Amino acid sequence: MKLWGGRFTKETNDLAYAFNESLSFDQRLYRQDIEGSIAHVTMLAKQGILTSEERDQIIRGLEGIRADIESGALVPDPTQYEDIHSFIESHLTERIGEAGKKLHTGRSRNDQVALDMKLYVRDQIPELNTRLLELMEVLENLMREHAETYMPGFTHLQKAQPTTLAHHLGAYYEMFRRDLSRLADTHSRLNECPLGAGALAGTTYPLDRAYTAELLHFECPTANSMDSVSDRDYLIELLSDLSLIMMHLSRFSEEIILWNSNEYHFVEIDDAYSTGSSIMPQKKNPDIAELVRGKTGRVYGHLMALLTTMKGLPLAYNKDMQEDKEGAFDALDTVMACLTLFTGMVKTLRFNQDAMKSSAVRGFTNATDAADYLVKKGVPFRDAHGIIGQLVLRCIEKGIGLDDLPLTEYQEICPVFQNDIYDAISLKTCVEKRMTYGAPGELIQRLREQ
Ligand code: ARG
Repeated sequence: MKLWGGRFTKETNDLAYAFNESLSFDQRLYRQDIEGSIAHVTMLAKQGILTSEERDQIIRGLEGIRADIESGALVPDPTQYEDIHSFIESHLTERIGEAGKKLHTGRSRNDQVALDMKLYVRDQIPELNTRLLELMEVLENLMREHAETYMPGFTHLQKAQPTTLAHHLGAYYEMFRRDLSRLADTHSRLNECPLGAGALAGTTYPLDRAYTAELLHFECPTANSMDSVSDRDYLIELLSDLSLIMMHLSRFSEEIILWNSNEYHFVEIDDAYSTGSSIMPQKKNPDIAELVRGKTGRVYGHLMALLTTMKGLPLAYNKDMQEDKEGAFDALDTVMACLTLFTGMVKTLRFNQDAMKSSAVRGFTNATDAADYLVKKGVPFRDAHGIIGQLVLRCIEKGIGLDDLPLTEYQEICPVFQNDIYDAISLKTCVEKRMTYGAPGELIQRLREQ
């Protein structure tokens, strides 16, 4: 059932119809579509374009359709209807007759679909926020629990300086905090209402766009009707926000996979979030973390796809824009699922504190602190760097750490060393003395004070 048969003398080719239809995927916009239509007719009646009886009839009809879609009594059929807009409008007319045909007065599917997608994204942002906040809460609890769990910090995947698990997890906490604020930015920019822009050039009916914007809780109506129907920037921003969330989840996943490996053994992923091998009975694989890392690619892909779709489009609406939906929906679904599963996995991780600590002790992560010890005793830093380098070499030859090297050997290379060197390079000192804002020692203090 078409909304536009009047001008045509032939039926659409079957393949062309199937190629064109979007109901199979835009049916998930039914709630937003109905919400927008209710606002539209409310405004039409206020402006005297429809009578209040017609308005009430239409609203009741739309509410009935919504209830029936929700109960499953009414199932959108993509072989009969082109998109969610025509599906709902046709059913409305079937149900209430003449008044139904007046719903679309002063409106086009172009401003309608622009509105529906904005409403949909706006409804999804709080869901994303909730999931991000749940993950951040899990991280906060782990940080409190592991304020003093020592581990090596890495650069180039080589042990660098000692830090704490809380500090390492805190880095991810900051990333997710930025993700939240990016979503808030996206929300604030998309919060202008395109309804009333018509096909591209507004309408000759005396619509009150400020009123529909207000009814739909938008900040204001969009200022240019051509831009209103052809702007997909907010979806690109959303996809970029989602890509960054995935990038953060993927980096974190990569670390969990490494840490869960036999070699690191820093963490053990709970059985509930691991899977086995069909052939190797000993295996317990970090599939969830790997899948989160893997799904990052498809979310990036949706961002690139929409950027590319939009790049050559002349104003105003072009059907290319229908391609915005599947990617945006899939990206949203993917990120929601990844956040939920990832949070469950992190919450149930078991941290092997002994392995982390002994890894920090074994890797010369205190070499910088040994050099700083000499600096505090008046040795220039460059010289101190060279001296500790020689001592490290000696330790490597002996297969021991700086903590185990006898004082006499320290003094052979530099007489400045005294017995207090051992305390100066202990893991505890190395971590707790790092008191600059944002450093692991300062974090210990911050967490203690909480
Ligand atoms: N299904 C279309 C879309 O998602 C709705 C807008 C159709 N407008 C049009 N002029 N064909 O973009």
